[in-house]
Amino acid sequence: MPKQLLTAAQGIHDRLIAWRRHFHAHPELGEHEEQTARYVADELRSLGYEPRERFGDTFGVVADLRPPAASSGAGPAIALRADMDALPIQEETGVDYASQKPGLMHACGHDAHVAMLLGAAQLLGQRRGDLRRGVRLIFQPAEEGPGGAAPMIAGGVLDGVEAVFGLHIWSEMPLGTLGTRPGAFMSSTNRLHVVVHGKGGHAAMPHQCVDPVVAAAQIIMALQTVVSRGIAMTDSAVVSVTCLQAGSASNIVPEFAELRGTVRTLSQATRATVLARIRQLAAGVAAAHGATADITLEDGYPALVNDPGIVDRALHAARQIGFTPDQLLTLPAQAGAEDFAYYAQKVPAAFLFLGARNEAKGCAYPHHHPRFNIDEDALPLGAALLAAFANA
Ligand code: NI
Repeated sequence: MPKQLLTAAQGIHDRLIAWRRHFHAHPELGEHEEQTARYVADELRSLGYEPRERFGDTFGVVADLRPPAASSGAGPAIALRADMDALPIQEETGVDYASQKPGLMHACGHDAHVAMLLGAAQLLGQRRGDLRRGVRLIFQPAEEGPGGAAPMIAGGVLDGVEAVFGLHIWSEMPLGTLGTRPGAFMSSTNRLHVVVHGKGGHAAMPHQCVDPVVAAAQIIMALQTVVSRGIAMTDSAVVSVTCLQAGSASNIVPEFAELRGTVRTLSQATRATVLARIRQLAAGVAAAHGATADITLEDGYPALVNDPGIVDRALHAARQIGFTPDQLLTLPAQAGAEDFAYYAQKVPAAFLFLGARNEAKGCAYPHHHPRFNIDEDALPLGAALLAAFANA
């Protein structure tokens, strides 16, 4: 079936475009995807599925497809995931299917993800007899924050699932390419917030004060050693201090200074090392100045770690539907984060980027840009790939 899958996906190109443009015109923010979810569920019903809505107390929609021979108790084995949420961006593409909601836009391609997974649902539903195992379709909310994967997993979306595949459309890669990386592929994130408490007073008499500005400045410099002196050359991490706020006048030593920033790593072990070192340095440097530091390192998403065996299966499926070796790219690890990481923590998983860049069509802006757009010729490729993953 693989080769024919791409032909069949190209045969529903108009429908894929119509779906994608519908979602594009009607974006909804994370945790507000009510209309999107309802539309997805209605389309799934029209394709013969029995979707479960409001999965895990979210706007998530889940639908299962079983091979005809499976016993009634057989659980789904392969999960395919799409995310549904948009971004708080005012669209500037000028396309006639542009967002109808001021200040909201599908600027990361999640509209395409939903359309491609609906397309896969149609292709798989028409080929149920070819299925080797069950398939679970996961339409999740809130990928851009605060996160939809974790509550859906808590609701049981991975119960009985053997492997999970996810595709992200990617405007940084040319149309027709597919890229990924075995092992660590995308970063963990932590938000860094340090409040240095000193003792304020007259700036002309600093000896009577504990200056939190000087302590904060030294903490910023000390944090530059977290990676350079604490992380092996074969590993990587980023610690960026992006915000420093203190004081209100030139003749007053303030009571406190505040730092904010972000931490990125590619494994839980490195994350733990980096966070511990930040705490140690910030507290120690503050104490050396007679100040104290309140340190908060709020967890964002964990690192997304692809299972090498599942990546192989995904690439095998891609070759079967016609991707050539030069269209399959091994990418460097990415500094961005993805809540697909939570699925990959629970079951072996592969997350891949599907190229959708086409300068000739004006589709060359980065993700989260007001002029972000994709070459819609990627849609049948994505639908065929997702369907092929189901039998990979
Ligand atoms: Ni995205």
